[in-house]
Amino acid sequence: MVFLRLALILGLGSVGLCTTYSTIQDVPNIKWDFIIVGGGTAGSALAGRLTENPKFDVLVIEAGPTNEGVEDSIIPGLGPKTLSTRYDWNFTTVPQQGLNGRSIPYQRGHLLGGTSSVNGMVYTRGPASDYDRLARISGDSGWSWENIQSYLMKNEKLEQPSDNHDVEGELDPTMHSSMGKVAVTLPNDLSPAIDAATLQASKELGGDFQFNIDMNSGKPLGVGWMQSTIGHDGTRSSSATSYLDNQTRGRKNLHIVTDTFVTRVLKTPGAKGLTIRSVEIRSSNASEAVILTAFKEVILASGTIGTPHILLHSGIGDERDLKALNIETVLHNPSVGRNFTDHPGFFIPFSLAPNSIDMGPWVNLSTDPALQAQALYLWKTNRTGPYVQYIPGHHIAWLRLPENSSIIKQFGDPSSSQESAHIELMLGMSGRTYNAILLMVSPASRGSLTIKSNNPFDNPLIDPGYYSSQFDLLTTREGIKSAVKFSKAPVWENVITGLLANATTDAEIDAFIRNNTVSGLHPVGTAAMSSVNASWGVVDPDLLVKRVSGLRIVDASVLPYVPSAHTQVIAYVVAERAADMIKDKWRDVRASSPLLVLQQ
Ligand SMILES: Cc1cc2nc3c(=O)[nH]c(=O)nc-3n(C[C@H](O)[C@H](O)[C@H](O)COP(=O)(O)OP(=O)(O)OC[C@H]3O[C@@H](n4cnc5c(N)ncnc54)[C@H](O)[C@@H]3O)c2cc1C
Ligand SMILES: *[C@@H]1O[C@H](CO)[C@@H](O)[C@H](O)[C@H]1NC(C)=O
Ligand SMILES: *[C@@H]1O[C@H](CO)[C@@H](O)[C@H](O)[C@H]1NC(C)=O
Ligand SMILES: *[C@@H]1O[C@H](CO)[C@@H](O)[C@H](O)[C@H]1NC(C)=O
Ligand SMILES: *[C@@H]1O[C@H](CO)[C@@H](O)[C@H](O)[C@H]1NC(C)=O
Ligand SMILES: *[C@@H]1O[C@H](CO)[C@@H](O)[C@H](O)[C@H]1NC(C)=O
Ligand SMILES: *[C@@H]1O[C@H](CO)[C@@H](O)[C@H](O)[C@H]1NC(C)=O
Ligand SMILES: *[C@@H]1O[C@H](CO)[C@@H](O)[C@H](O)[C@H]1NC(C)=O
Ligand SMILES: *[C@@H]1O[C@H](CO)[C@@H](O)[C@H](O)[C@H]1NC(C)=O
Ligand SMILES: *[C@@H]1O[C@H](CO)[C@@H](O)[C@H](O)[C@H]1NC(C)=O
Ligand SMILES: *[C@@H]1O[C@H](CO)[C@@H](O)[C@H](O)[C@H]1NC(C)=O
Repeated sequence: MVFLRLALILGLGSVGLCTTYSTIQDVPNIKWDFIIVGGGTAGSALAGRLTENPKFDVLVIEAGPTNEGVEDSIIPGLGPKTLSTRYDWNFTTVPQQGLNGRSIPYQRGHLLGGTSSVNGMVYTRGPASDYDRLARISGDSGWSWENIQSYLMKNEKLEQPSDNHDVEGELDPTMHSSMGKVAVTLPNDLSPAIDAATLQASKELGGDFQFNIDMNSGKPLGVGWMQSTIGHDGTRSSSATSYLDNQTRGRKNLHIVTDTFVTRVLKTPGAKGLTIRSVEIRSSNASEAVILTAFKEVILASGTIGTPHILLHSGIGDERDLKALNIETVLHNPSVGRNFTDHPGFFIPFSLAPNSIDMGPWVNLSTDPALQAQALYLWKTNRTGPYVQYIPGHHIAWLRLPENSSIIKQFGDPSSSQESAHIELMLGMSGRTYNAILLMVSPASRGSLTIKSNNPFDNPLIDPGYYSSQFDLLTTREGIKSAVKFSKAPVWENVITGLLANATTDAEIDAFIRNNTVSGLHPVGTAAMSSVNASWGVVDPDLLVKRVSGLRIVDASVLPYVPSAHTQVIAYVVAERAADMIKDKWRDVRASSPLLVLQQ
C-alpha cells in the first residue's frame, strides 16, 4: 500500500489553476479539510457550497469521468444515449419475484454530476408533508417543508424556456426562485395540439384530474405543467454544470479527481475512539491502494447504491453478513443497506387515430435519422426543436386512491398525508402514441442492498423488492384504471383509439404490471436518517454516521422514505442543508496541526 505523505508544506494548495485531475497520482499533497466521495448530484452541490469558505480545502473523488464536453449529457434530447455507456454504472437488479422473476436494468450516473448528468431532469419537490414526515422521523424540525424553503430557493434558478413563450398560467411564479444554481424551465411549446387536449381532458374530468397551476407548491395533486432542470440555453442543468461551473472550478481550495474509485473508508490511526476520516482508493482491481485522510470529515456522497456498498466493504453493516464474507466488522449496524425503497413504473401507451390530431413534425424522430440530424442542427443553431427536452410529455397527473378505498382500509396508507400522491402519470405524446408513464410513488415495499463478496469491484446485489407489499400492486392496478379513465375524456373521442395492451380483467392487468415494470430509478433509504435515539438507522439528523466520528453521508441514501416525487430536488435539499451544517460546525474550529499527524 502506498500512503500518500500528508503534506507539511501547506502552500502546496496554490499550485496551478487546473484543479481537476484524472488520476490520483496527479493530485497534490494537500491537508484536506474535507474529502467528498462521489461528485454526483449531492456531492458536487456540497463541494460548490463548502468551497465558498476559502479556508476549507476540499477534495472530490469521482469514480466516473468529467461531464465536460459530453454531448449526450449536455443536449437534453440525447440524454437517454448516456445510458449503457461509460457514463452509466450499468447495474441490474437481482431477479424480482414481483416481476415474474425478471432482473431489470438499474442505471446510475457514472460521471461528474452523477445521476443529475444522465437523469430525466423532471423538477418535482414533492408534497410538503413528505418533508414534515422527515422532520418528524428525524426529530429535527429543520427538515420540515417550512424550514427547507431557503434551500429550495438557493437551489433553483427559474428561467424562461428557450422559445420565450409566455408562461403565464403554466406555473405560480411566487413559488419559485431565480437566485439559485440549477436552472428550471417549463417545456417549449412543441406539441400545442396535444398539450391543449391534455388540459382539456383535465378540465372535462375535473376531480382527481383538476388542473393544478403549480405542482411544486407543496400541494402537488392534480394535473399540471411539468418543470425541468433545463436552462434557457436549452442545455441540461446538472449539479456539475451549475454548482461546479467554471468559476467555481477555478477556486484554489477545490480539487476534483475523476476516474478514481473509492473502495473503502478506514479507521484513522491515532485518532480517538472510532474515527473514520480516511479513504482507500484503487484505480483498478489489481492496482495498489492509496490512502488519504481528511482533517475534518470524510463525506460519502456516492448515492443510494454506492454509499452502502462502500460502508459494507468497510465493515460497517450487519456483523453476521460481514462475517460470512470474511469482512472484519468495524461497526455493527444492521440498518446499512436495508429499507431500500424505490418507485416501480412503466409506459402505458395509447394508440392515436391517424390524422385525428396534429402530432407535429417530429412524430418519426426516434426512427428517422434525417429528422435526428435536423433536430441536432436546430438545437445547435438556436436551441429550438425537440432536443431541447428529454421527457416527451409536458404534463404530470399526481393522483390518490379515494380515502375510503378498500386498499387503504386493508393495508393502511403509506403516503405522508392526504395531499400526497400514490400514483404519478407523466402525460404526453412520444412517437405516434400518447403515453401515461406511471410511477407508483408511495410504495410500502422495501428491499435491500447487499454485497456478495469482499471484493469492492464486484457489483452489489440490488433488490428493490418491487410489489413485495400487495398494497403496491393493488394501487398500481388502480393507477392503470385512472390512466384509462383519463384516456376516455370526451376530448379524446376518435383520437385515442385504445390501450396498446390487452389487459382488462384484474388478473390481466396484474400480469401486464409484472411483465412491464421497470425501475423508476428513485432509490433511497440504504443509509437512513433517524432520530438521535432511534434503535435503527445509519445517520443522525445532522447526517453524521451514528457511533462514528468524522464520517458523514450526504446523498439520497439518507432518506428513510422515498418522496412522492422524483428525487433530484430532495437530494439537492439534503446537500444544501448539509453544507450549512458543516460550515456551521467547523466555523471556529482550527485545523489540526500537521505535526500531530506526523506522530501517528
Ligand atoms: C435514468 C434516470 C433518470 C432519472 N430521472 C429523474 C428525473 O427526471 N427527475 C428527478 O428528480 N430524478 C430523476 N432521477 C433520480 C435522481 O437523478 C437521483 O435520485 C439523484 O440524482 C441522486 O443523487 P445522489 O447524489 O444521491 O446520487 P448520484 O447523483 O448518483 O451521485 C453518486 C456519485 O457517486 C459516484 N460514486 C459512486 N460510488 C463511488 C465510489 N466507490 N467511488 C467514487 N465515486 C463513486 C457516482 O459515480 C456518482 O457520481 C433519475 C435517475 C436515473 C438513473
Ligand atoms: C457500461 O456498459 C457499456 C457497454 O457495455 C460499457 O462501454 C461501459 O464501460 C460500462 N460502464 C462502466 C462504468 O463500466
Ligand atoms: C468552461 O471551461 C471549458 C474548458 O475550458 C470551456 O470549454 C467552456 O466553454 C467554459 N464554459 C463556459 C460556460 O464558459
Ligand atoms: C478482482 O480480483 C480478484 C482477486 O484477484 C478476482 O477474484 C476477481 O474476479 C477480480 N474481479 C474483477 C471484477 O475483475
Ligand atoms: C426500516 O425502517 C423502519 C422505519 O420506517 C424501521 O422501523 C426499521 O427498524 C428499519 N429497518 C432496519 C433494518 O433498519
Ligand atoms: C411518419 O412516418 C410514417 C410512416 O413511415 C408516415 O406515414 C408519416 O407521414 C410520417 N409523418 C411525418 C409527420 O412525417
Ligand atoms: C432556428 O433555426 C431554424 C433553421 O435555421 C430557423 O428555421 C428558425 O426560424 C430559427 N428559429 C428561431 C426561433 O430563431
Ligand atoms: C367511496 O366513496 C364514494 C363517494 O362517496 C362512493 O361512491 C364509493 O362507493 C365509496 N367506496 C367505498 C369502497 O366505500
Ligand atoms: C392484443 O390482442 C390482439 C388480438 O388478440 C392482437 O392482435 C394484438 O397484437 C394484441 N396486442 C398486444 C399489445 O399484445
Ligand atoms: C408475460 O410474460 C410471459 C413470459 O414472457 C408471457 O408468457 C406472458 O404471456 C406475458 N403476459 C402478458 C399479459 O403480457
Ligand atoms: C436521547 O437519549 C438521551 C439519554 O437517554 C437523552 O438525554 C436525550 O434527551 C435523548 N434525545 C432525544 C432527541 O430524544
